[in-house]
Amino acid sequence: MGQRSQWGTRAGFILAAVGSAVGLGNIWRFPYVAYENGGGAFFIPYLFALLTAGIPILIMEFTIGQKYRGSAPLSFFRMEGKKAEWLGWWGVFVAFVISTYYSVIIAWAMKYTVYSFNLQWGDDTTGFLFGDVLNLADTPGQVGGFVPGVLIPHILVWIIVFGILFAGVKKGIEFANRIFIPALVIVFLLIVIRAVTLPGALTGLEAFFKPDLSQLANGTVWVAAYGHIFFSLSIAFAIMITYSSYLPKKSDITNNAFITGFANSGFELLAGIGVFAALGFMAVQNNVPVDEVATAGVGLAFAVFPQIINEFPGMNALFGVLFFLSLVLAGLTSLISICETYVAGLSEKLGISRNKAVLFGAGLASLISLLFSTRGGLYFLDAADYFINQFGVAFIGLIEVIAVAWIFRKLDVFKEHANPMSDIQIGGWWKFSLTVITPLVLGYMMFDLFRTNLGKRFDTETGNYEGYSDAFILGAGWSVAIAALVLGILFTLFKWNRHAL
Ligand code: PHE
Ligand code: NA
Repeated sequence: MGQRSQWGTRAGFILAAVGSAVGLGNIWRFPYVAYENGGGAFFIPYLFALLTAGIPILIMEFTIGQKYRGSAPLSFFRMEGKKAEWLGWWGVFVAFVISTYYSVIIAWAMKYTVYSFNLQWGDDTTGFLFGDVLNLADTPGQVGGFVPGVLIPHILVWIIVFGILFAGVKKGIEFANRIFIPALVIVFLLIVIRAVTLPGALTGLEAFFKPDLSQLANGTVWVAAYGHIFFSLSIAFAIMITYSSYLPKKSDITNNAFITGFANSGFELLAGIGVFAALGFMAVQNNVPVDEVATAGVGLAFAVFPQIINEFPGMNALFGVLFFLSLVLAGLTSLISICETYVAGLSEKLGISRNKAVLFGAGLASLISLLFSTRGGLYFLDAADYFINQFGVAFIGLIEVIAVAWIFRKLDVFKEHANPMSDIQIGGWWKFSLTVITPLVLGYMMFDLFRTNLGKRFDTETGNYEGYSDAFILGAGWSVAIAALVLGILFTLFKWNRHAL
């Protein structure tokens, strides 16, 4: 294998890391999570989670990648042999699963960018989404054939991703982020400025920022903050280790982590303001409380926002295009980062070229992902997303900090590695966060998650997540999360190609 790929500039690395972190989660997840969990008061647990878990883990993962200079599996292998390698593969397979369904959401956003030109969704935006666009199957678990209108943009998304991955780390990933991220910032600022100047915006912002301090005594609020930070920063599933493995031998680590963390949070805050200003406008237009229109995820982006855009006082089409374009840009830069985890891992493990790894890895992911372009796609996506995030990302985070801090006892080694080349010096706060605070909070969170899901404590008829049947939860949820772990262990059993080591 030739020379290892490397970022062209420090800014290029930061833009790529921010590009991974800033994703759909910032736009459609954060605003609602904050609103639901204490509004303005949520910023306390949120900042706490950012400073005791998010940024400390980001620093840890940047150090691992930069120090061991390998994909997540190779970096862990170099750290502590096969005892650690499986953690890297586990993260890679979690990333693999996420890439299969994340891609279809970008395809929907592309479709809606085009629909915006003539507000094609009409008045019944919900019916349009689930009927005309997704042609959603009647029952979860039904596959029901491809939906051509989704399949075509979905293939287009993969063509773009293939193009960027084939072009390489510097000429592909760095180049794409250099264009997409500044474009995203401009597009998003335009939307937010328009949103806050709409009539009724203040009503929405009041609802968003109104602090409910009593919520701070509520454990679930703190767990929500931690859970969101993990997802939002793209930590604990191989991404940030992979990206930092392309840093030059001498490069800042800690300051880069702070910049990435705060840039992501800044974007979230901006999105919260924009989304709730727009929701306030809609609530006032329709004479309903904000609570009635506030929501998250697919419904917010593809049903509520089209409705808001319908009611816009002017330039409706333009703002529709800008909003959905921002989803496309935020989504693509995240999707590239997830795919790069398995491109790097496969090429090193098997000793094959980068291009072959793209062809095999992203090739297989794109084929599997077509399941989400079927009539049953949305249900599969929902179950896979919930289980892979809770029992993949958050769970790996817990095992990873325990392994690194308590079992391999690497924190001092990492500190000695990162400090000399970094602007910001890490010390007691960083170690305490990773050895004590994060394991405790995440440990409690995982315990509670297992209890809730195994004990079927959801407030639904079946007691399962979203009220899905046992068979569907088992087949589309649990088995997906467990498969990522099992495949990770299996891959660890194979030998490394000698060229990789
Ligand atoms: N950090 C992303 C977000 O906030 C989530 C993500 C990143 C998901 C990378 C998948 C891959 O939306
Ligand atoms: Na994010």
